[in-house]
Amino acid sequence: MKRREFLKSSTIAGAVFAASPRSVWAKSSDAQIEIYLNEPIGRISRNIYGHFTEHIGGVIYDGVWVGPNSKIPNQDGIRRSLIDRLKEINAPVIRWPGGCFADSYDWRDGVGPSANRPRRTNFWEVDPDARRLGERGAQVFEPNQFGTNEFIQFCRLSGAEPYLAANLRSLPALEFDHWVEYCNSPAGSTTLADLRAGAGFADPFKVRYWGVGNESWGCGGNFTPEEYASEFRRFTTWVPEFGVDLQFIGSGPNGDDIDWTHRFFEELYSGHAYQNSHFAGWSVHHYSTNLSRGKTQDWIAEKGDALQFEPVDWYELLKESNRIQQIINDQWTLMGQYDRAHEIKLVVDEYGPWYHEGTEVDRTHIFGQQITMRDALATALTLDTFNRNAEKIGMATCAQLVNNLNALFLAHEDKFITTPNYHVFRMYADHQGAEALRTQFSVADIHYVRDGQQASFWGLNGSASRKGNVVTLTLVNPDLQTPKVTQLTLPGTNIKDASAEVLFSTDMHAHNSFDQPDAVRPQKLDVSASSDLVTVMLPAASVACLKITVGFTAVR
Ligand code: AHR
Repeated sequence: MKRREFLKSSTIAGAVFAASPRSVWAKSSDAQIEIYLNEPIGRISRNIYGHFTEHIGGVIYDGVWVGPNSKIPNQDGIRRSLIDRLKEINAPVIRWPGGCFADSYDWRDGVGPSANRPRRTNFWEVDPDARRLGERGAQVFEPNQFGTNEFIQFCRLSGAEPYLAANLRSLPALEFDHWVEYCNSPAGSTTLADLRAGAGFADPFKVRYWGVGNESWGCGGNFTPEEYASEFRRFTTWVPEFGVDLQFIGSGPNGDDIDWTHRFFEELYSGHAYQNSHFAGWSVHHYSTNLSRGKTQDWIAEKGDALQFEPVDWYELLKESNRIQQIINDQWTLMGQYDRAHEIKLVVDEYGPWYHEGTEVDRTHIFGQQITMRDALATALTLDTFNRNAEKIGMATCAQLVNNLNALFLAHEDKFITTPNYHVFRMYADHQGAEALRTQFSVADIHYVRDGQQASFWGLNGSASRKGNVVTLTLVNPDLQTPKVTQLTLPGTNIKDASAEVLFSTDMHAHNSFDQPDAVRPQKLDVSASSDLVTVMLPAASVACLKITVGFTAVR
């Protein structure tokens, strides 16, 4: 069934409802949702709710790492409040050390006694955002106090699995093998295992997820797809396993670059018989950057401001974020031509809005930006899209965790706050590992003015999943003006109970700050439920999460 456009005028809407086969809908509702428990899409990988930390600006130094001698509460040098919050959202996986930084990183610099570790020039030193700092801090000269051991400890304390990105641009394949050996070889087995044990880590780290380069079409080497395929083949062949089910993630396209994916797979599979059961993921990066409304494609000029924006920028940003659905469709279809059984899943390991500089909480936080309600909705609609494509998405990591583009946290010295994005991840956490369900939305599009012309965006969207007899439904109402009376049914069930919470503000620019850390936080949302219908009023510009307990009449 296609999405129907219900007009909000009550007389017309009444006529539409009268014609609807469902008599259950109230005439006054703005949106109707049907959740089909007998139409599972697939299990939602926990790893869709992952995070990304790079050695850039204030992410590692000032964000994650404060050092063991700091007065800031820490565990083994890692910011205590960050660990606590990551546990609250059940963080499943964290990617490190980049990003572009990864292809300039020598993992050997970050192991061994910390006093002996070298200082190196950080990859981002050449970036204009770093240049403007004109100083010599950790953002420019990498002190290597946070290396593999510290990252693994961060993951262990937070309850997350590590996802390491290997250097394919500036280190040989043998160094990749050796990094795997350092992490995974059994205690006492190799010289590198002894080095690890000397740092207090006798037991192997058992790292499963390995990115093979990053953005190899750009900062990761400016390779052609054919060249990258050849390097990928070399790097991933006969890597030592040590009993670990290694999962290699290839460096996929920039956005929806079909040509990169097509030529990579063509080279990998058509010319040579590449067979590697560890090739498990194809990375996709999708940043929402262009708020120029088609006026420019210039990487700097196209960007908007994180805090100063108009309603048109709100919708344009959401529209840019929403392109992820098309990217997933296109890339998945193309990959299926080579990998018919779809063994290789999509790994969206960088996503989020990207604004120009100026709203970072400290000037050393390169790519730091404030996070408003607009970003919370962009993040929520992206996570909903991943849930709705559960069979295709193996992992996703939000860029980046703290003091960066689409951060869940902002920190500087002893100050630490959660952003609206953190609340979205907490509200969505019950989708992790649940069974995604097909869900039908019937709602009118929103119309807005874009440079004197009418433009439109969907009026309500979301995703549903089930664990046992509890259904989680998350919803995004992007409409800046209008709350939506929303009704939902779950055919084949008796509704036993329903509850909800909502994240919203009457100010689209609302955000948390060190002075007002709880300006944006979720609230309880009233829900009315009968045995076959749930009704809820979704505030304008909101993200909501409903929990519905059901009994079964016809479906199991
Ligand atoms: O997240 C910031 C940067 O964006 C990453 O280092 C890179 O992979 C991407 O271009």
